[in-house]
Amino acid sequence: MKRVLSGVQPTGNIHIGNYLGAMKQFVELQNEAECYFCVVNLHSHTVPQDPRQLLEKTRDVAALYLAIGIDPEKATIFVQSQIPAHAEACWLLQCVARVGELNRMIQFKEKSKGSEAVTAGLYTYPVLMAGDILLYHATHVPVGEDQKQHLELTRDIAERFNRDYKEIFTIPEPLIGKVGARIMSLDNPEKKMSKSTEGAYSNITLLDEPKLIEKKIKRAVTDSENLVRYDPENKPGVSNLLSIYSLLSGKTISELERQYEGAGYGQFKKDLAEATVQHLQPIQEKFREIRGSSYLDDVLKIGAEKAGAVAEKTLRQMKDAMGIL
Ligand code: TYM
Repeated sequence: MKRVLSGVQPTGNIHIGNYLGAMKQFVELQNEAECYFCVVNLHSHTVPQDPRQLLEKTRDVAALYLAIGIDPEKATIFVQSQIPAHAEACWLLQCVARVGELNRMIQFKEKSKGSEAVTAGLYTYPVLMAGDILLYHATHVPVGEDQKQHLELTRDIAERFNRDYKEIFTIPEPLIGKVGARIMSLDNPEKKMSKSTEGAYSNITLLDEPKLIEKKIKRAVTDSENLVRYDPENKPGVSNLLSIYSLLSGKTISELERQYEGAGYGQFKKDLAEATVQHLQPIQEKFREIRGSSYLDDVLKIGAEKAGAVAEKTLRQMKDAMGIL
């Protein structure tokens, strides 16, 4: 059977890039695979965090998992730090990963910008991620395109461990959607939409108010052609909006192009804003209902027990293979 693991960092605000690139797939996968969805709070500390806010955001992401439709009867939802095996596996795998491999990680290069005044955790971050995946013998890992290189590293580490110590790990495959794997920033469609927003109008978060969503979409950068056509190279802004619209509405991009033939950007943006609000409203309602509830605590407690049992077993196998008392 397919086994799925994925994670989202509780850093900043979860946006429609995270949702359309990865989390929406989680909801679909829970019906066909054994799924583990993790709030990866240890990853967040690779950059400075306000401890109190991190606690809040950790619960936010767990509540969002439930709010988007992940059913804890079908999938296991848990918080990374509540399973000590993740940090332990990370150390063992750091002794398998190579510095040369970590030096090639694009995300580290982008985030560190050549500075040495970044944490060592930012550098070894992909190894912690490899541990998250390998501890659960995940066969498939749904992620956005920006995580593809980390998945390749995970596969390399797993293959090396299997060869040098013992055949323990399953080699995971990334699951990267054809549309939505790289949602771009609304105010600069040359850049990926991100949580660490520089511009106030660059992303749409899952918890944005309807008025703000309308405003952000209205302001989204397009071009002067006033023609709704998918052409990422020459029309990156409009193409990005078309991808978002397609994923939120279930209509194909060509259907949308036909629908807006001769209509211009005004109507297109108005309808997209409406579709976005409509899609997010039930998620927001459910989020508000469960965010402060004891139900959320129960889900996380049961999730930690279930995930912990799987992770502990794999960790024990790793230790045995490596001669760790
Ligand atoms: P994170 O928290 O940055 O992002 C969560 C998920 O959202 C995807 N994503 C995007 N997809 C499309 N367009 C975008 N603009 C966009 N921005 C983000 C990410 O690819 C990711 O799938 N290292 C991971 C978290 C992680 C993880 C794991 C993932 C830790 N351990 C194990 C999978 C398996 C991260 O920082 O994601």
